[in-house]
Amino acid sequence: MNTDTLERTIQALLAPGRGILAADESFPTIGKRFEELGIESTEENRRAYRDMLLTAPRLSGNISGVILFDETIRQESLEGIPFPKLIAGQGIVPGIKVDEGAVALPGFEGEKFTLGLDGLRDRLPAYFKLGARFTKWRAVISIGEDTPSSGCVAANARSLALFAALSQEAGLVPIVEPEIMMDGDHTLGRCEEVATAALRAVFAALVEQRVALEHMLLKTGMVLPGAGCRKKAGVAEIAEATLRCFTRSVPAAVPGVVFLSGGQSDVPATERLNAICKVTGLPWKVTFSFGRALQDPAMKAWEGSSRNVSAAQKALLHRAVCNGLAVRGRYTAKAEKTRSR
Ligand code: 13P
Repeated sequence: MNTDTLERTIQALLAPGRGILAADESFPTIGKRFEELGIESTEENRRAYRDMLLTAPRLSGNISGVILFDETIRQESLEGIPFPKLIAGQGIVPGIKVDEGAVALPGFEGEKFTLGLDGLRDRLPAYFKLGARFTKWRAVISIGEDTPSSGCVAANARSLALFAALSQEAGLVPIVEPEIMMDGDHTLGRCEEVATAALRAVFAALVEQRVALEHMLLKTGMVLPGAGCRKKAGVAEIAEATLRCFTRSVPAAVPGVVFLSGGQSDVPATERLNAICKVTGLPWKVTFSFGRALQDPAMKAWEGSSRNVSAAQKALLHRAVCNGLAVRGRYTAKAEKTRSR
């Protein structure tokens, strides 16, 4: 394992005031997001959309890394520069989603496990050659009356650990992502309970698989009440529950925790990130690895038209700047209203 490469990547990804743009939507996911806006999901449209994101001026001010999808890492920008080269040229680290999606876990009604370990050892060096320096694998944990089951959590923890071990072997920093879904009417307390148990199981598997905790990042959601829960939680309450859960289950050897947005709207995601990052003395660095909470306003402004590229890039930049402030605990309502130029 080349630990120098892993170390350099970790340092670059966790640079102060910066975070990760998750732009690794799979074909079905980008298709769904485009469809909601009446945009056709063709290869050219996906390329033009990602080109808009990745050529946004001053993106690197607050973005340290971009997670790409397999199609994008092989595509060129509209000006003919391979996307990973375009990103790296701006001082942003290219990364790649390497899982092949979550599917039904047989025998476990309503639960999922993630495909993609077969052939992974051969795919990873190819991604490194294409310019990727980190990888991502997403596991899905749903909260229901009788779920998650220990069988589902164990299967996902094992796959995450094998993925992480294989990535480190290839000189790629693994972003280990167990996502606890926001769907459902569970309370904040129940989410905390499930997230704590799931994270403990994931770290037990990572340790058993001899993954170097120093050379990985944890990506997961904040502790939140389910989207259908009647009892809403305040920003301070969410930050407190999230940090209590993480300090109880994420080893201090892990260099960074990067949050997904998981269906929160953009402004609340930033407010909550800010509240979490205001807390000093945490054992790991904390930043964002948002998909929707960074991209949504930009995608809406873009509407599939080259005429809207500049407006869309401004919308993206604004979210990047606001989240960059949040990571330093300096985000304010005034900053939200000040449009980035
Ligand atoms: P969201 O921030 O939209 O949840 O996406 C992040 C991600 O990478 C999901 O796997």
